[in-house]
Amino acid sequence: MDKRKILITSALPYANGSIHLGHLVEYIQTDIWARFQKMRFPMEEGHEIYYVCADDTHGTPIMLRAEKEGITPEALIKRVHQEHHRDFEGFHIKFDNYYTTHSSETRQYSEDIYIKLKTADPSLITTHSVEQFYDPVKNIFLPDRFIKGECPKCGAKDQYGDNCEVCGATYAPTDLKEPYSAVSSAVLVKKSSEHFFFKLSDNRCVNFLRQWTLEGHHLQVEAANKMREWLGKAEQNNLSDWDISRDAPYFGFEIPDAPGKYFYVWLDAPIGYMGSFQNLCDKRGINFTDFWKKDSTAKLYHFIGKDILYFHALFWPAMLENAGYRTPTKIFAHGFLTINGEKMSKSRGTFITAENYLKLGLNPEWLRYYYAAKLNGTMEDIDLNLEDFIARVNSDLVGKYVNIASRAAGFLVRYFDSQLFNTLNLHMLDPLSELLENEEVICNHMKNRRYSLAVTAIMALTDKVNEYWDKQKPWEKAKLINDKQTSDELHLVSSITIECFRILTIFLKPILPKLAQKAESFLNVEPLQWKDLQKTLSHKHQIKAYEHLMTRIDRKKIDAMIDASK
Ligand code: MSP
Ligand code: ZN
Repeated sequence: MDKRKILITSALPYANGSIHLGHLVEYIQTDIWARFQKMRFPMEEGHEIYYVCADDTHGTPIMLRAEKEGITPEALIKRVHQEHHRDFEGFHIKFDNYYTTHSSETRQYSEDIYIKLKTADPSLITTHSVEQFYDPVKNIFLPDRFIKGECPKCGAKDQYGDNCEVCGATYAPTDLKEPYSAVSSAVLVKKSSEHFFFKLSDNRCVNFLRQWTLEGHHLQVEAANKMREWLGKAEQNNLSDWDISRDAPYFGFEIPDAPGKYFYVWLDAPIGYMGSFQNLCDKRGINFTDFWKKDSTAKLYHFIGKDILYFHALFWPAMLENAGYRTPTKIFAHGFLTINGEKMSKSRGTFITAENYLKLGLNPEWLRYYYAAKLNGTMEDIDLNLEDFIARVNSDLVGKYVNIASRAAGFLVRYFDSQLFNTLNLHMLDPLSELLENEEVICNHMKNRRYSLAVTAIMALTDKVNEYWDKQKPWEKAKLINDKQTSDELHLVSSITIECFRILTIFLKPILPKLAQKAESFLNVEPLQWKDLQKTLSHKHQIKAYEHLMTRIDRKKIDAMIDASK
């Protein structure tokens, strides 16, 4: 079999905020996919599959946040890095590397890509003067979100630079009346300065992007449609050049040969994928070039939210292509999280951080399971309905799946010294055969990120196993345990059921890695791989006594979490 080489990324979270349940839609989704791929193509067999991420550490908001806290940006990003790392570990997100964009590796690739674009013939970098709002007290140019003023339409005061919360109008910050700084409250002045641009409107970018978007299946259908809209009709050019510089003071990388000019954070952010991977390569002796050279056959998959599609599907491939690197194999965009059908909100207590969720004793695998049960590989938003969350986890995981183990283990431990009957030839019979026949379907759903369909299929199988158990009435057989034939039957039914549980555990393992680990210890087996579907537990294999695998969700915990998030 050919050896896989796959690099998987999640978007890099900003280093000025906490990880919340919205972010986790992405990290859990990516983690499930990476774990699934690794289970099917283990490293021990020569496959190389890596999942990397990093903190996105540059830009004005991070600089201002540090200033507000009275610390340096370096100190801020260091602290947040530890917090993010803790939160991801808490949700069992298993990165091969979790790095930072504030690194020598990311600086090196940023400069490298920039210089290649600049020295292209003709150059893909231009400069011209731009007029922007300037805060004369702070002595900085302000990003739109730090500009407030009167709505140009209804005159409402204290509205942000992009839309009015009173009348709903959208506009440019320069349209605001009486604009002032949200940082210092100073009246803003307009000031010009020289900016650097990546010539996205150049034919080398436009033609490449047209082809890349429309021919390569690099994007989901909805994303490709968006791209068509952005690119406009053939012969028409809707793309404008991209402003990639910011003036000092700025927390970021200074542009080579341009003192006082810095790379805009979105220039170096995706390059952070390369930086994080380079750092991993140095630690593990992996060949970076194999993965990133122009003609690389390795796969590169980016998981992102729909809000940052523009950066990943336009700027990023155009930069890579024109700087002589490979471009992404696929970009997987997902929708946004709503809670109980509404946007996350502090006042409703639904702006829930990863930290709060874990602190109040909620099991991270409940959320992993629920998200999996909802994700369908499209850009649709997904809703965390807290009632449904409780019902689904309690009924599917505790009521159906875990229940199988506890039922079967009881008799094995009690009457058969915890040893299994010979189940070797039983894979041809139901319910085992039916479980195994579903492997391909489940595999395909997982591969295509339709986890919800995989979960539905797996839960239908747990129903089958529970039905089998009920039909066999093992509790009645146990009453006749002194009869050799009945006792053998009980032994067999329990063993088949344990074997079913093992198979279901393999299917669920990418979604529920810790629960699977507990199940492996209960089953007394090595860490399960996908290929273990082809094996059976041997005759007389001894399982361990059943210990609680997962508790039910207690509504009180959910209420406490909501209260703590208000
Ligand atoms: N720093 C940029 C990404 C740079 S990638 C080179 C960024 N950071 S973020 O912290 O705002 O978001 C990180 C990821 O989480 C993004 O893919 C974003 O879409 C996703 N989500 C953030 N909030 C989300 C929800 N409420 N719901 C689903 N995904 C969300 O963007
Ligand atoms: Zn208005």
